[in-house]
Amino acid sequence: MFSINSECILSKKTEDIPPFYVMEVLESAQALETEGRHIIHLEVGEPDFPTAPHICEAACAAIGRGSTKYTHSQGLLALREAIVESYQNKFGIELDPNQVIVTSGTSPGLLMVFMALLEKRDEVIMSNPHYACYPNFVKCLGGTPVYVYTNEANGFSVEPETVRHCLSPYTKAILINSPSNPTGHVMSPESLQGLAAIAEEKEIPIISDEIYQGLIYSGEEHTILEYTNNAFVLNGFSKLYAMTGWRLGYIICPPECVRALQKIHQNFFICSNSFVQEAGIAALKGPQEHVAEMIQTYNTRRQYMLKRLLGMGLDVGKEPMGAFYVLADARKYSNNSLELSRRILNEAGVAVTPGIDFGNGAEGYLRFCYANSIENIKEGMDRLEAFLEKEHDR
Ligand SMILES: Cc1ncc(COP(=O)(O)O)c(C=O)c1O
Repeated sequence: MFSINSECILSKKTEDIPPFYVMEVLESAQALETEGRHIIHLEVGEPDFPTAPHICEAACAAIGRGSTKYTHSQGLLALREAIVESYQNKFGIELDPNQVIVTSGTSPGLLMVFMALLEKRDEVIMSNPHYACYPNFVKCLGGTPVYVYTNEANGFSVEPETVRHCLSPYTKAILINSPSNPTGHVMSPESLQGLAAIAEEKEIPIISDEIYQGLIYSGEEHTILEYTNNAFVLNGFSKLYAMTGWRLGYIICPPECVRALQKIHQNFFICSNSFVQEAGIAALKGPQEHVAEMIQTYNTRRQYMLKRLLGMGLDVGKEPMGAFYVLADARKYSNNSLELSRRILNEAGVAVTPGIDFGNGAEGYLRFCYANSIENIKEGMDRLEAFLEKEHDR
């Protein structure tokens, strides 16, 4: 049989893409499960709740009506109107549905925004730790990530003064993510305002990944659009509406940039799924009680998990108030988070994400996701505690 020399045929940029370690942990955990092991999953950032019935019914009804064709490349107008209305209701800001491009998840939206903005050598300022995929998008498109290092001592907060130190003639965008994956940090209005001031003064747009919007457990939430319109906002339905597998998200961009993003979408994706867009309308315009219940449940789990992790001596610093993650300092056990997470998986049967997935600023840390039942979290914490006690005695 002909054997392909992948080194010859694959591009350098493909070879340079690092693995998404959380997916590798998940796959190793699944392999152990097929061997009969019982694993507690605290690694993947995916809601454990089912999508609400009225959202599923809307998709089925749309298929029944024959809504199975291409839609407008920017997405169904009714969905874009619902998105604009949701920002209006939550934040009191006026947007035009024509500023919205509906995508198949936030991930393609990120790719499109970076594609639209970046030339070779352009720099994108982002926090470290950061969502694992950010630098890979940037590098793949010829850009360079420039990191603002944050840690638990400063509440993993990206502060405007620190960002100012990272500005260079090549800075093309400032990327923020609040509530944050992996830290659970929620940016203050003052920080958002400070970054917005830099964006306007230096004419550098902010790319604001707001995928965890709504998942906050205290205080008010904000969008960058309250402070500046020099921003590209990414958002989607995966997290708040428990719709990861539906693949639905959107970009809100300055009116002047819509055409560029629309052309990218037309060429590379055409449009997002028609009946999934109809489900998105039901999610935004339908009853929201299930969302409120999920948030309450996440909060109970968050408090429980934090108490347990702190009790085990895994430091957390400032209390994470958003998303569904806790990033805990495990450096007293190991400085190699990948190796430590492999051992926790193999020896304790608990899948956790190694901090290194989120940049060298999180090496020695572990990310725990509380989108799992309280019973499973309890079992996971008990197993982890027993593992760490043994480590201590070693
Ligand atoms: C910060 C952040 N951005 C984007 C995504 C991708 O979300 P989507 O399912 O909308 O592609 C994730 C998924 O975990 C995430 O954590």
